[in-house]
Amino acid sequence: MSPSTSRGRDPATAAGAVAPVLTIDGPSGSGKGTVSRMVAHALGWHYLDSGALYRAVGLAAAWEQIDLSDAEAVAACASRTVIRFDGDGEGEPKVWVNGKDATHQLRMETAGAAASAIAAHPPVRGALTDLQRSFRADPGLVADGRDMGTVIFPDAPFKVFLTASAEERAHRRHKQLKEKGVSVNFDSLLHEISARDERDASRAVAPLKPAPNALFLDSTGRSIGEVVQHVLALVPESMRRP
Ligand code: DC
Repeated sequence: MSPSTSRGRDPATAAGAVAPVLTIDGPSGSGKGTVSRMVAHALGWHYLDSGALYRAVGLAAAWEQIDLSDAEAVAACASRTVIRFDGDGEGEPKVWVNGKDATHQLRMETAGAAASAIAAHPPVRGALTDLQRSFRADPGLVADGRDMGTVIFPDAPFKVFLTASAEERAHRRHKQLKEKGVSVNFDSLLHEISARDERDASRAVAPLKPAPNALFLDSTGRSIGEVVQHVLALVPESMRRP
């Protein structure tokens, strides 16, 4: 992997690995992405959207017409894919994959399904491990994904597992996609989301599950603002943006 971000990560700082990390894991559509970005912004911390890395590798592999079930070929593709996040900390960052703006394509359900398929291969997860850990830098990192609190940052001082009912998650995705001008059938979306959850939770390596010391939050029926406040309350005032 050739990491590159607009935030100018300092590898020396990242290697020190002393910066605090707040991990937010959970299934697709739980609100993780929005909550994580808002929390990172409020704290003044960096943000890692690890799902975007898996989506980017899935997309790059598809562009190269690699068989997604070929673990070694996809892992090799992960190692040569250049992913760049481009954002100012507010709103969704743009994501560039091998020099192409893939922001829109990456949010599609097909990219999510490809990501979920390649994420089940241990060599692919291995190829992305160091890259994900390199995002840990002062003053802190909010990391969103499936295994942030269990595998990538097991020593994180703050961990959340965020979920919501499958129906509510499908409704949210449906609304999000509609706002982006993408028309999808609700029932097929619910089916795809449930199938993806099942695959992410039942895979042998780094399955979706709460870290033993994670705060379990169910966002069903709660507003994003409420959830953000709940998560922010985990971090002492002294560690927040002045
Ligand atoms: O969070 P997301 O929907 O963008 O993630 C897309 C897929 O990537 C998800 O179905 C499983 C995989 N993934 C993973 O296995 N581990 C992560 N830390 C993040 C995502």
